[in-house]
Amino acid sequence: EVTPLEKRYEDSFPIGAAVEPYQLEGIHGEVLKRHYNSIVAENVMKPINIQPQEGNFNFEEADKIVQFAKENDMDLRFHTLVWHSQVPEWFFLDGEGNPMVDETDPEQRERNKEILLERLETHIKTIVTRYKDEVDAWDVVNETIDPYASNDRGLRESKWYQITGTDYIKKAFETTRKYAAEDAKLFINDYNTEVEPKRDYMYDLVKDLLDQGVPIDGVGHQAHIQIGWPSIEDTRESINMFAGLGLDNQITELDVSLYGWPPTPAFANYDEILASGRLFDQAERYNQLFELYEELDDKISNVTFWGIADDHTWLDDRAEDYNNGVGKDAPFVFDPNFNVKPSYWEMMDYD
Ligand code: XIL
Repeated sequence: EVTPLEKRYEDSFPIGAAVEPYQLEGIHGEVLKRHYNSIVAENVMKPINIQPQEGNFNFEEADKIVQFAKENDMDLRFHTLVWHSQVPEWFFLDGEGNPMVDETDPEQRERNKEILLERLETHIKTIVTRYKDEVDAWDVVNETIDPYASNDRGLRESKWYQITGTDYIKKAFETTRKYAAEDAKLFINDYNTEVEPKRDYMYDLVKDLLDQGVPIDGVGHQAHIQIGWPSIEDTRESINMFAGLGLDNQITELDVSLYGWPPTPAFANYDEILASGRLFDQAERYNQLFELYEELDDKISNVTFWGIADDHTWLDDRAEDYNNGVGKDAPFVFDPNFNVKPSYWEMMDYD
C-alpha cells in the first residue's frame, strides 16, 4: 500500500479533489477517503444546478458531497457562488422576460441592477446559511478577469459586469461574509493567475477591493496548467505577490495537461500515452511544482486537484474538441485504474 497523498503533505496543507456525486461510492470513494482530506464539487454546487429556476433550490446532489465531507472529516471547498458560466438565464431577465443587458433607458437599467443584486443576495444567503457549518473555503466569485476585455482593468464583461459594474463582486463578498462562519475563508478564484497581464489585473482588482474594505481572504489559483507552462518562477512570484497583500492562497483546480506546451500530437487512448514517454515529463513537472508549494506552504492553505484519477477529467472533452473527436488526457497522479503514475512518485519525493 502506497503512502496517502494527504499524509505526505499533512504538515503543509490539505490535499483535495473535485468530485461528482457518483464518485463518492465504490472505488472512487475508497481512493478519495484514502488519499485526500479535502473535497469540492466539480459541478453540482454551481448556480445552474443549485437554483435552476428562481426560488427553486435543488440541494439534493450538493448535500451528498457535504455529507461525505462531514462523515469522513474532510475539509470542504464550495465552488462557486457566482460565475458567468453555468448560470441560469433567468438571473439576467427583467420583469417582462427581456434580457437586462439590452435595456437602454437609464432609469430602468438602474432598477434592473437592483433586481439582479437582490437575486444575487438571495442566492448567496440561502446557500451560505444552509452550509455555513461545513464549508471551510468559499469560491465567492469565479473568473472575473479577462485580459482581452475592452476595458483597461481587464474586467470580464460578463452579464454580471454589464449590468452592475464591479458591484456584484462587492455584494457577493459582503453577503457571503455576513452569513458564513467566522473562520470560513472567502476566495476570488481564477485561471492563469501566474502570468502577466492576468496576474497584474487580478492584483490591481483585489488591492482596490481591499482598499474599499471588501472582505476578501484569499486568491484561488485554478492551476489548469501544462507540462511546460507557466514557469515555476512566475508561479512563485504570483503567490508571493498576493501574500504581500496579506492574502491567503489556495491551489483550487490543479491538473497538468499533456497538451499545450511543449507541443505534442494527440493521443487517442491511454496506451498511446504510455508509449509516448510523456508521463515522465509530467512527473518532473509534478516534482518541481510540489517542491514549490512546500517551499511556500506558509502562504498556501489548500492544494486541490480537479479530479481524482485519469479515468475522469474534464480535459478529455477539451482534448477531443482540439483533435476532431479523438483525444485522451491524463492530468493526475493516478492512472485510469487508480494505480500510481510516475507523477505520484515525484510528487511524493521518492528518488
Ligand atoms: C468544469 C467541469 O469540470 C466540467 O465538468 C463542466 O462541464 C464545465 O466546468 N474552471 C472552473 C471549473 O472554475 O468550474 C470548471 O469545471 C473548469 C474550469
